[in-house]
Amino acid sequence: MIQHSKTLNRHLLDQLRLTPHMPGSLATVFAQMTFAAKIVAREMRRAALVGELGLVGQQNSTGDDQKKLDIFANEVFIDAITDSGLIAGLVSEEMAEMQIISDTPEARYIVAVDPFDGSSNADVNGAVGSIIGIYHKPDGGSAHLESDLTSGAAPMVAAIYVMYGPSTVFVYTCGAGVYGFTLDHDLGEFLLSHNNIRIPPHGHYYSANMGYLQDWNPKVQYFFQKLTEPTEQRESRYSLRYSGAMVADVHRTLLEGGIYIYPPDKKHPKGKLRLLYECAPLSFIVEQAGGLATNGTTRISHLTYNSIHELTAIALGSPAEVKLYEKCLAE
Ligand code: AHG
Ligand code: MN
Ligand code: MN
Repeated sequence: MIQHSKTLNRHLLDQLRLTPHMPGSLATVFAQMTFAAKIVAREMRRAALVGELGLVGQQNSTGDDQKKLDIFANEVFIDAITDSGLIAGLVSEEMAEMQIISDTPEARYIVAVDPFDGSSNADVNGAVGSIIGIYHKPDGGSAHLESDLTSGAAPMVAAIYVMYGPSTVFVYTCGAGVYGFTLDHDLGEFLLSHNNIRIPPHGHYYSANMGYLQDWNPKVQYFFQKLTEPTEQRESRYSLRYSGAMVADVHRTLLEGGIYIYPPDKKHPKGKLRLLYECAPLSFIVEQAGGLATNGTTRISHLTYNSIHELTAIALGSPAEVKLYEKCLAE
């Protein structure tokens, strides 16, 4: 007996009717993104059986060792994006330059994608994800794509993450709330399973790579000291949860509250995570659910950038924990 019977496509069409400023063609772009997500989910499930695990022996533009599934997922998203005819340009973690897809007037979107997030989890059957930012370029075509993106002339209109875990979950916002869908593999459809997600105002979990504690600024260390003080000195007890896949850690944070942090460290003085296709889309989703997202002093959505692979520090999650983080950094 299926309890959830609203498909993602049906839900999106209703949402687009309720938000008339949103271009209706977004539904077509989403259809291509869901198709790509289903192909990646299928490949993940059988990767160990078809020789798709492990490294390819080269690095991407931000210096990460590429895995076979990084390359596979990137190609799946390129194909899906090329097919729609609505997308002018593609930015991907796995490609050094923006790829021009279409120069027709109907091509009014730029898509920024982390095709495969948390790839260090792939070989150990851990959760991974995809992150997608959809940016709207009011004048179609392929002219000055990169400057439109970096100047803010092409603002983000939708953000998506897909988590490939025990189930495949697709979470999106178009700026009117956050909705989650679970893939029914038999039907091949994403069905509404998390209606109007609201992040708890405070939580009980924190997610950060505590292995780098000694490499953080003393103010960041002070925040974690405050968070882990004995219970009688603070409101609630916190537990550490860190999977190594931002999508999975942010998904937990979104549903259960708390904070995800990737601060600058000695190896990554500007932070490790990328603004356009990791931090900005996930921040849009968390803020739409009532949470906050900051680099420590400035909202992620207010950051300007010069490069498509720009890095940033990030802390996002429940308002209580994010405000405490900003307070510790300001002291
Ligand atoms: P990606 O696999 O797309 O390169 O992203 C990995 C990111 C993020 O998902 C995760 O939270 C973080 O890198 C893990 O980094 P550390 O191993 O340094 O903690
Ligand atoms: Mn990533
Ligand atoms: Mn990635």
